[in-house]
Amino acid sequence: MKIAVDGPAGAGKSTIARLVAEKLGLRYLDTGAMYRALTLEALRRGTDTSDEDAIMRVATSIDLNIVFQAGKGNVIFLGGEDVTGLIRQPDVTAQVSVVASHKKVREFIVALQDQIGKQGSVVMDGRDIGTVVMPDADWKIFLQASVEERARRRQAEFERRGVEVDFDELQEQIRMRDHLDSTRDNSPLRKAQDAVEIDTTSLTIAEVVDEVLGLIRGEGEHVQDSGGNP
Ligand code: CDP
Repeated sequence: MKIAVDGPAGAGKSTIARLVAEKLGLRYLDTGAMYRALTLEALRRGTDTSDEDAIMRVATSIDLNIVFQAGKGNVIFLGGEDVTGLIRQPDVTAQVSVVASHKKVREFIVALQDQIGKQGSVVMDGRDIGTVVMPDADWKIFLQASVEERARRRQAEFERRGVEVDFDELQEQIRMRDHLDSTRDNSPLRKAQDAVEIDTTSLTIAEVVDEVLGLIRGEGEHVQDSGGNP
């Protein structure tokens, strides 16, 4: 079974995708973490993130390892170093959409995701999973939420890690990333035609997980006419 979870920053994709994967006993891949790890390494090497060829040289020379740990989600290793926390730092977040906008970079990363998809059942979350990475997914979920709510969630997430962030700045960053992600030429963020959209603005995590599981277990609308609902 393949489940695609897409949506903008802060809509709840990674939390929901991880929990759904755990409940169903499937593997989970946070595809954003791949772009983030590449961005972190590019920043460490002082690479200009707008230089596609330079970013490709970084992409083809990194040793990226993603390990799934129940209860923790994806643990990301770069050259053996656990960078799971570092890839969520504001400097990486500020540059990741530029890195992810390059065509060759996307082709390279999508090929890795494709290999993972071919290894069997998986839940993947990202921006282009239902449209490009797994267009044949059995289930496609598109999560949405208001910009204010998404900024609130991000602020709470940073606070839990002891990082102070300005709410207005966070909102602005989210708007900017939404804009970059949905207007880029290469596989922009958009809802697949056959995806089910869930507005999570006023829903709890448990409510969203229940809704997704309900759909998959056939208690709700079926995503695809030809889908492989088990
Ligand atoms: O966690 P958050 O929603 O903030 O972002 P993420 O899922 O970690 O993704 C970070 C960035 O990577 C996004 O803003 C996109 O620019 C890019 N991305 C992408 O282009 N395609 C994906 N499948 C996943 C992420």
